[in-house]
Amino acid sequence: MSDSPEILVVDLGSQYTQVLGRTLREIRYRSVISSPVKAAKQLEKWKPKGIILSGGPASVDDKDAPQPPEGILNLGIPVLGICYGMQWTTRELGGIITREVEKKEYSQANVLLSRHDPLFANLPRLNGNDEVIVWASHGDSVKELPKGFNQIGVSSDGKTIAAMSCPEKRIWGLQFHPEVTQSAPGKEILRTFLADICGCQPNWEPEDAIKVKREEALRIIGDKKAIIGFSGGVDSSTAAALLSPVLGERLLGICIDTGFLREGELEEIRKNASLAGVKLKIVHAARRFRRAIGNTNDAETKRRRFKKLYALILKEEAKKFGASFIIQGTLATDIIESGKAGESALIKSHHNVGLNFGLEEIRPFSDLFKYEVRDLARKMGLPESISERQPFPGPALLVRIIGKSATPKRIKIVRWADARVTEILRKHNLYDEISQLIVALDCTKTVGIKGDGRVYSYAVIVRGVSTVDFMTLHGYQIPAEVRREITATVTKHPKIVRVFYDETNKPPATTEME
Ligand code: XMP
Repeated sequence: MSDSPEILVVDLGSQYTQVLGRTLREIRYRSVISSPVKAAKQLEKWKPKGIILSGGPASVDDKDAPQPPEGILNLGIPVLGICYGMQWTTRELGGIITREVEKKEYSQANVLLSRHDPLFANLPRLNGNDEVIVWASHGDSVKELPKGFNQIGVSSDGKTIAAMSCPEKRIWGLQFHPEVTQSAPGKEILRTFLADICGCQPNWEPEDAIKVKREEALRIIGDKKAIIGFSGGVDSSTAAALLSPVLGERLLGICIDTGFLREGELEEIRKNASLAGVKLKIVHAARRFRRAIGNTNDAETKRRRFKKLYALILKEEAKKFGASFIIQGTLATDIIESGKAGESALIKSHHNVGLNFGLEEIRPFSDLFKYEVRDLARKMGLPESISERQPFPGPALLVRIIGKSATPKRIKIVRWADARVTEILRKHNLYDEISQLIVALDCTKTVGIKGDGRVYSYAVIVRGVSTVDFMTLHGYQIPAEVRREITATVTKHPKIVRVFYDETNKPPATTEME
């Protein structure tokens, strides 16, 4: 069995490229994800057994549309083009694309796939039917196939070519995303492509990650010192637990008390640091954050200012400790949505991505998704209070004051509401059913009655989400009787007039509101 990756994924900018890497790991294959430029260089020295061209937001006609390495379709290596990858392949080989003027949107689609093609040969037929449900974009599509290609899939309304192939050239194209969980037959299609068409052997085991990541970090850090931004969450706790056995006293956890933390959070952070076996320093910086963020109402400005000071403080602490490295628990999701993964587009800036520390950054989880990190935590024997902990973003309550500045008064209100909602959900054993709870303050003032008088004040937004990877999610529906209890409790606060419940999926809505 080969230990090295046999599959090259060319990243053409899709939000789902890292999801693809993860799905390949789930079916036990290692892959290398590279930008087109990097892929071209790699192909000079390495002959992968299979190539996947990812999706991407561009249209093939766009001026700056990403271009896979020249000649990639003529190497004799099987190629699977996904979405943009299929469209690029079509255009490259002389087919015709129809262009959608409107922005691409992703949604469920029913498609009919031909079981006569080797790519779909292993798919079961449900009720004797060729139809399957997939996740597709209403974007550009193939109007005319390149010469020598067969249509092997079509949308159920017969209007869109959903899949194409040319087995002689060993090229396949899918208009949908097999890598996302919403595409029911996706994993089987990818497995068939890798195992049967490319002849790859499964070569990834989840346990490999602990050993590989420890070795990698130690190779880079050598006998120098490192700090880790420690939030007590699953990512930084697991990263600390991963590396503290190999770094020992040369690793220091830094927790920054920004003034935006939830009720009781500092105590939990202290407890998790001790469970992760890392020495912790708490830096009290609420006043500095208040000054740095000022009165801005704008979400991205809040995030940018937060990020700048956060980086500065870590830099100061690294200097005091004599560290040359900073370890970050940054995940693939954070990097993708900040537009830093290959070519993918910016959704919003995450506080821990693209920081300029002037230190070398080590991000052991930058290719992993939340549930993979949870898996690692369990494998390392960390308790559920870490492995199952809900994520909570670094900017914390700062980005839960919607549309207005984060004054200490508003932070206090949202902190109070968050704690009450959490208590009620815990009491009903619902908190752990939710992937993440968001309690935010809607600052569009609203009229209400408190006692005998009119009040003109805030509303609270409660949002629960269910997801495995935070790339896509479902709004969680809190049962009606629990909603009633939350509303009654939260509106006891003199400044809270109403409670809104947000059940929007992602897409279109992100997890956080700002
Ligand atoms: P979105 O809102 O992008 O969130 O769907 C996905 C996950 O990322 C968290 N998030 C952040 N985490 N720093 C973080 O460490 C950030 O700046 C940040 N912004 C969002 C979010 O809470 C969710 O778990």
